[in-house]
Amino acid sequence: MSYEYRTGLGWDSHRIAVGRPLILGGVTVESEFGLDGHSDADILLHAITDALLGALALGDIGMHFPDTDPRWKGAESMQFLTHALGLVAERGYEVVNMDTTVILERPKLKDYRVKIREHIAANLKLELDQVSVKFKTAEKVGPVGEGRSAEAQAVVTVRRRTQS
Ligand code: C5P
Ligand code: MG
Repeated sequence: MSYEYRTGLGWDSHRIAVGRPLILGGVTVESEFGLDGHSDADILLHAITDALLGALALGDIGMHFPDTDPRWKGAESMQFLTHALGLVAERGYEVVNMDTTVILERPKLKDYRVKIREHIAANLKLELDQVSVKFKTAEKVGPVGEGRSAEAQAVVTVRRRTQS
């Protein structure tokens, strides 16, 4: 059996905002603040969505879901990701694995790791070991380190069978 492999890269950043929920990978994290944004501001799902789109050169999340469109105000970002996965599947590709990093000074996120991985895997119909989620601080340096913003990065590899 042989496959064609492609890889995509995604990145996102949102401002920290008091009075907003902190939602990462579709999971609400207990926190004194959240992230500002037109949708639910889920930086992790936005980064994964861009990585999936990028793997097949399908543009980026803003092209498919403009933040000026009232349909996406407060939208759950999982719908962006499942839409991107649909575009990938339509072209005959399946996800091999994804690796991600959320960079946020606080709160501590490691206790949410399994829940976030399970939530993403369940929604994308993947196995748990295909979904990696890592967390980092920015060591108190820069906008993330000073607690003004958060970032997420994602790499996704997809494959399509070329011979049976
Ligand atoms: O950024 P730093 O290397 O100090 O992070 C150490 C560990 O702390 C990470 O490997 C991660 O597991 C955890 N962490 C966390 N929540 C954060 C940042 C880091 O659980 N917001
Ligand atoms: Mg975003």
